[in-house]
Amino acid sequence: MQITLSKIDLAKTKTRCLILFSTTQQEMCKEAEAIDKASNGLVKRQLVNSGFNGKAGETALLCETGDMPCECLLVVGLGDEDEFNISQLQKGVSAAMKNLLSMKVGEAIIGMPAKSSLTTSTLLRETAQALVNATYNFSECKSDDDKPHKIRKIRLSVSNSKQLAGGRKSVQQGEAIALGMEMAKNLADLPGNICTPAYLARKAGSLGRKYKSISTKVVNEKEMEKLKMGALLSVSRGSRQPAKLIIMEYKGGKKGDKPVVLVGKGLTFDAGGISIKPSARMDEMKYDMCGGASVIGTIKAVAEMELPINIVGVVPSSENLPDGDANKPGDIVTSMAGKTIEILNTDAEGRLILCDALTYSKRFKPDTVIDIATLTGACIVALGNHASGLMANSEEVASDLISAGESCNDRTWRLPLWDEYQPQLDSNFADIANIGGPAAGTITAGCFLSRFTEDFNWAHLDIAGTAWKSGAEKGATGRPVPLLVNYLINKAG
Ligand code: BES
Ligand code: MN
Ligand code: ZN
Repeated sequence: MQITLSKIDLAKTKTRCLILFSTTQQEMCKEAEAIDKASNGLVKRQLVNSGFNGKAGETALLCETGDMPCECLLVVGLGDEDEFNISQLQKGVSAAMKNLLSMKVGEAIIGMPAKSSLTTSTLLRETAQALVNATYNFSECKSDDDKPHKIRKIRLSVSNSKQLAGGRKSVQQGEAIALGMEMAKNLADLPGNICTPAYLARKAGSLGRKYKSISTKVVNEKEMEKLKMGALLSVSRGSRQPAKLIIMEYKGGKKGDKPVVLVGKGLTFDAGGISIKPSARMDEMKYDMCGGASVIGTIKAVAEMELPINIVGVVPSSENLPDGDANKPGDIVTSMAGKTIEILNTDAEGRLILCDALTYSKRFKPDTVIDIATLTGACIVALGNHASGLMANSEEVASDLISAGESCNDRTWRLPLWDEYQPQLDSNFADIANIGGPAAGTITAGCFLSRFTEDFNWAHLDIAGTAWKSGAEKGATGRPVPLLVNYLINKAG
């Protein structure tokens, strides 16, 4: 789908469908007023008859267009004007796209609201992102070849031609973020028997071939042994699929610029191991690689927009299954950092694969390290599906991530990593235990990781609640790709 940005005379330009926005205040944009006038009040009359209220995501399809050059007019609600935010815009744009897809139109024009509380760049970036996001469809595992309808072209129109140059860049950014999200969603929606550690590694490798700025390297189990990655290897021992440590280097910055290292949990299926999980909804544990998928998707988006910054993606990938050779409760393993770990619960495996990946990250002399993981069910209890849990040893990284999330509605909420929590990880037999009891489960998981990140600026994102939707809309969300890309855009300056 092609998205263009220009200044279009909406009352005079032919299109299959013209889309205009309205609010609960029923205030139509200037263009809509003009079109209404030109059509002798036809638009307003039909709107009133349709019972349209302007709520965010509400739509009214007006088929009587009189002398207007559009075949139909779709009015889309953006909700309360005084509370207008990105979430309302996303609701409006996806509702518009749903209509276009079911009408099977080939092209449409969208008249962007001329005044809103969002900046033009946010408005256009988020609109483009939501347009592309709405076309996501996971059908590759269904046998009927009912191909979903494809929209060829959407023309966005702004009323001020001064907005065009900067606006085009914002549209491109939105498209790139959506492409990264699409990749992350696809990897997460794929079942564990297809999306294995080797599959993830191959997908990362294909990005390395597609973009000159990306080079991919995969560390195999033999090399992990040489690196003494005893924690990562212990999780993989119970699986027939060999573990992979995927390294992606994106070079967009100057040669000497220290990179931001993104470390993503790539657990392609988490049955819990010997501490096996209950069967109900265990299928959803195929999404335990969403941290890794968001790293791969973010690097794709950043390469698309050719951001001037250096980034390294590190994705430890494994399965966690019960087996005669799997980790057992009480087992003690030695991490790459030399710390011994008593595995009291084999289901707390994410921190085991992450700690070795974090230690490995030191070799890149990072400016900042951010790890992203579906790490704890406790994070869903604490924050639900709206905010990712954020923990950090650096005030600056924490506040940069918080504001990047606010600016794209992919929000985080910070939890403390106070020293008082650390003793929960004490072990009678090893340097550290891999669980800290039922209290503050998200924080003690963060505390565990903090023992391996003392040498650099670090933040941890627990995305257990935000990366996935359960229920009727079961599937991946693509989060936190928008957060990470916006953080990197700000960081690149
Ligand atoms: N991948 C899970 C965390 C998870 C649970 C993500 C539910 C999404 C939804 C992680 O490996 C895990 O099993 N964590 C345990 C930790 C516990 C044993 C300390 C958990 O949250 O139960
Ligand atoms: Mn687990
Ligand atoms: Zn897990």
